[in-house]
Amino acid sequence: MQVKKTLIEIIRKINQMRCCPLFVVSISPKKKEKNVSETTENGPPSYPLIGSILSFNKNRHRLLHWYTELLRLSPSQTISIPLLGNRRTIVTTNPQNVEYILKTNFFNFPKGKPFTDLLGDLLGNGIFNVDGHSWSSQRKLASHEFSTRSLRSFAFEVLKDEVENRLVPVLSDAADVGMTLDLQDVLKRFAFDVVCKVSLGWDPDCLDLTRPVNPLAEAFDTAAEISARRATEPVYAVWKVKRVLNVGSERKLREAIRTVHVLISEIVRARKKSLEIGTGEEAKQDLLSRDTTSAAMTWLFWLLSENGDVERKLLEEVEPLISLGLGFEELKEMSYTKACLCEAMRLYPPVSWDSKHAANDDVLPDGTRVKKGDKVTYFPYGMGRMEKLWGKDWEEFKPNRWFESEPEGTRPVLKPVSPYKFPIFQAGPRVCVAKEMAFMQMKYVVGSVLSRFEIVPVNKDRPVFVPLLTAHMAGGLKVKLKSRSH
Ligand code: HEM
Repeated sequence: MQVKKTLIEIIRKINQMRCCPLFVVSISPKKKEKNVSETTENGPPSYPLIGSILSFNKNRHRLLHWYTELLRLSPSQTISIPLLGNRRTIVTTNPQNVEYILKTNFFNFPKGKPFTDLLGDLLGNGIFNVDGHSWSSQRKLASHEFSTRSLRSFAFEVLKDEVENRLVPVLSDAADVGMTLDLQDVLKRFAFDVVCKVSLGWDPDCLDLTRPVNPLAEAFDTAAEISARRATEPVYAVWKVKRVLNVGSERKLREAIRTVHVLISEIVRARKKSLEIGTGEEAKQDLLSRDTTSAAMTWLFWLLSENGDVERKLLEEVEPLISLGLGFEELKEMSYTKACLCEAMRLYPPVSWDSKHAANDDVLPDGTRVKKGDKVTYFPYGMGRMEKLWGKDWEEFKPNRWFESEPEGTRPVLKPVSPYKFPIFQAGPRVCVAKEMAFMQMKYVVGSVLSRFEIVPVNKDRPVFVPLLTAHMAGGLKVKLKSRSH
């Protein structure tokens, strides 16, 4: 805390010297260089030594909006934010740059040590948090596993059981007595049950709402939140120093991680007595991704409550399929539901930003020069909010934009959209390994819930989007449920 205060004090002092000509820096674009079609050094005011750290610090609690505002003003859709100690963050919403980073020159844009350090204590050397050889061998295994029929059917059976025997009864009981429920919390508990059953073969039964939050879920959430906040420290060294001294949030993080390790080891030990399962290392990666589907669905349910015409259309698609029993074939058909999910994730992406670190100097397709070690961030939240990408009506929730023309008939066909314009699941070689499974799960839950209940938010205010590692709705989504009479 003290170290941080001292650094901020130094920065303030430097700020007071801004009237001195030495510290006045032009923010106009630099001159064109050979082979660089257009330089694009757009971004906040920047000063020698301290770069843009003053603006960064001022906006660090609203980085999402700050980046979006700056990117709207940038002709190239890219901004450059120099920070203390020669560090630069480049943020882009330009699909050509995104394709270049995630695919064309993939090997020059690994996650890099500064990123893997952030999550290293929690995730160790799991697939999410490594590059190079270790990543490619884990990726091969994971891609194979996720594509096997046996895992898909097992995951589907778990999902079906959890929806029919836990989620729907909980919602039904709440509807019967007119109780207010936090739908976000319910969906998170649901996702935690599913992921633990699939990854650890263990059933925490979190949808029993009379129980307190599961200690593993609680410790994991705390650890993920503190790890994510490390990335918003304006000076990288701050969290490292706090970790060495074992103080403040770093102390809390260490305790939470210890709890996660102990609890997972206990579960694995107990399960190993009855059947052969892994070490539990993979479970940590899966636990991290569990909040993505619950976040996407929470925002979709809220958006549908605000857009009755879309909800009606979704029900027209779902109701005939539900009566057949939602199986793999029916889920494949639900293209309007998929368009609604994509549209919700365009506006409220479960992973709002994702960063790589340049292994060598490079030039992005829009002319932005990248130096070795620069942090290069592609920014799905900003991308979903760019008029240049989605048109004047970008702010509207319009699932129809995912179709070539007005969707008609029982199987309207979705139009192809570049994953580099919509990198919600990332794209290229490191695209989310569970993308198809995630859509299947979300279609099943949305169809099952919406065909049975009308969801009415209690609060009429616009909810607040909180990014962190995976996004969520501040304060949850408090709703009343009404059973639909058939
Ligand atoms: C709406 C749901 C989901 C979204 C939006 C999503 C998004 C993403 C994104 C953006 C990444 C890249 C992260 C990075 O490299 O930093 C990713 C990777 C990954 N996701 Fe997902 N995800 C979702 C659901 C899931 C689920 C349900 C699972 C598994 C249970 C999962 C497993 C993974 C794994 C293992 C990776 C690492 C892939 C690699 O590095 O090669 N995801 N996901």
